[in-house]
Amino acid sequence: MPSLMDTPDFSTVVAQRRQRIEDALRGELPPAGDCPSRLAESMWYSLAAGGKRVRPVLTLLACEACGGSIEAALPAAVAIEMIHTYSLIHDDLPAMDDDDLRRGMPTNHIQFGEATAILAGDGLLTRAFEIISRDVKPAAVAVACCVELASAAGAEGMVGGQQADLEAETTPVRTVEALEAIHRRKTGRLLSAALLMGGRIAQTSPQNLRSLQIYGESIGLAFQIADDLLDVVGDAGKMGKGVRKDSDLNKLTYPSLLGLDESRRRANSLVDCACEAVSGLGPQAAHLQALARYIIERDH
Ligand code: IPE
Ligand code: IPE
Ligand code: MG
Ligand code: MG
Ligand code: MG
Repeated sequence: MPSLMDTPDFSTVVAQRRQRIEDALRGELPPAGDCPSRLAESMWYSLAAGGKRVRPVLTLLACEACGGSIEAALPAAVAIEMIHTYSLIHDDLPAMDDDDLRRGMPTNHIQFGEATAILAGDGLLTRAFEIISRDVKPAAVAVACCVELASAAGAEGMVGGQQADLEAETTPVRTVEALEAIHRRKTGRLLSAALLMGGRIAQTSPQNLRSLQIYGESIGLAFQIADDLLDVVGDAGKMGKGVRKDSDLNKLTYPSLLGLDESRRRANSLVDCACEAVSGLGPQAAHLQALARYIIERDH
């Protein structure tokens, strides 16, 4: 079956937005000389290593679907990719998932040592809020974006989800409810924040924000199901990270709880839900719908 990324329109739209993001990321780290060079190098190492840029693309597409511009949404897009990259650097640390490959390169702590990797993550996290506060206009929208992102990245969101993910390695409670609660926090909240920031920057209606939120919650879960499936069936070369790690670490995942077929079925129905949620947003929402399908069809 041809992949959605083979559809010329959608693949061009995503490629153009990725390029805008790559160009913007380059200019957003502290200038040489303003921080210790090893720290700057370590931050740039993980950020520049690539990655699919799904979260910043979502910010741009959501803003556009709500009538806003790419230009206006770029600072928030850059910020969310910095927070995501920090979360990956810390996720790979020996005290967490203990991985040595990420985005096709040695993980940050393998390359720079644990202390610098921790500090590179800290530096990316704080830089993200500096960029939004300074560059998102008007100031009231910048504040709303900071609140959205802080809540999604913090203890109620990604950080809390990461804690629950680690605790689940050793807890005997293995239910779908527990699993979904982890996925929603550790992955779903940040994906939703990417979309909601895009909508807020376009200064869209509360009703459209609600549609983006439902879409985000659905693709958030679907995204982590796809990630868990790829850990079982994926190819390390294509993914640029280690595979078959979740079962070694006794992670609570969809495939471990429900098997491959039921996991795929749930991911599909979540994507249907997501597509339905944004159907009222207008013609540009078609790109969000295509992205939702890509999230579960991807091979990396
Ligand atoms: C991996 O995220 C971590 C999860 C939340 C599942 P991505 O699959 O988006 O990683 P990159 O950014 O493409 O490297
Ligand atoms: C990580 O989930 C989610 C984050 C918040 C970083 P995973 O631990 O499954 O991500 P990978 O598989 O290492 O990319
Ligand atoms: Mg993890
Ligand atoms: Mg991991
Ligand atoms: Mg994983």
